[in-house]
Amino acid sequence: MSDDVELEDIKGVGSKTAEKLRDSGYEELMSIATMSSGELGEVADLGDKKAQGIITEARKELDLGFDSAKDRYDDRQEMQRIETGCEEFDEILGGGVETQAITEVYGEYGSAKTQLSHQLSVNVQRPEDEGGLDREVVYIDTEDTFIPDRIEQMAEAQDMDVDKALDNIHVARAFNSDHQMLLADEAQEICQNNDIGLVVVDSLTAQFRSDYVGRGELAQRQQKLNKHMNTLLRLANAHNAAVLVTNQVMSNPDQMFGDPTKAIGGHIVAHNSAIRLYLRKSKKDKRIARLVDSPYMPEGEAVFKVADRGIVPEDF
Ligand SMILES: Nc1ncnc2c1ncn2[C@@H]1O[C@H](COP(=O)(O)OP(=O)(O)O)[C@@H](O)[C@H]1O
Ligand SMILES: [Mg+2]
Repeated sequence: MSDDVELEDIKGVGSKTAEKLRDSGYEELMSIATMSSGELGEVADLGDKKAQGIITEARKELDLGFDSAKDRYDDRQEMQRIETGCEEFDEILGGGVETQAITEVYGEYGSAKTQLSHQLSVNVQRPEDEGGLDREVVYIDTEDTFIPDRIEQMAEAQDMDVDKALDNIHVARAFNSDHQMLLADEAQEICQNNDIGLVVVDSLTAQFRSDYVGRGELAQRQQKLNKHMNTLLRLANAHNAAVLVTNQVMSNPDQMFGDPTKAIGGHIVAHNSAIRLYLRKSKKDKRIARLVDSPYMPEGEAVFKVADRGIVPEDF
């Protein structure tokens, strides 16, 4: 792909438009090529027709369109995996949490979604031959449950340099759903200036759930969530990064829209997530992870535990 092409090289993009795009975090051709004309119009203050023209030019420049299966195959060869710390868990995932895709982790309160988010934020920093990618993390924390001390514990348990482990996690707290979307946009810039291998959004849906409460707002909420996930998927593909999002399932059906057994966000979140993991509490301190509708892997379950050192096998 032509990395050396500047925004100004796209036909129809003047210096003013390029500046607006850069200010909003759209620095790469790919991010322009994959926008909707409405989005681009909004960001760069352009009419729909003009915006569509620019998108078409960006796509031409990138040669987007049909690939041969061989190209797809080559892209997939670059896919990498982050290990969880529990071999059985990794196995149901085909070796770990994969790059170039969104992995959705859903489950009830206390099912270990946040623990897994912390663990992967540490593990992605490990060398490649030790289950990591030797890369950094963007962590969007929407429930104020990111705990640096937990990172410290997990990093120490693996004899890692704790300061470095903490420094390598670019963390931001999202105060509402719009802010969360803005942070995902800003993550594009962080990904350009740092070697990011993992983007975590914990929780993906909590702010959306509280910002769009009425039944009449459901459609708007789903539309925003879809846009948010598109931004995340672009990050995953453009930077060969793993994206992990969490989604809380309510045990009280009264607090839910629609089917209480389904994760919040319904088909929008499910559709945008290539890998869906359902976590649940089991006897004693055990947790069960179930891989749900993967495009190429069988459904499977794994048992793990949470310990001081993090995610561990059940017999640890
Ligand atoms: N140091 C620890 N040792 C053992 N278990 C822990 C530790 N820290 C957290 N946990 C477990 O993790 C659970 C919280 O998981 P969490 O990831 O916050 O859930 P959620 O799915 O709601 O994000 C706690 O209930 C506790 O059982
Ligand atoms: Mg949590």
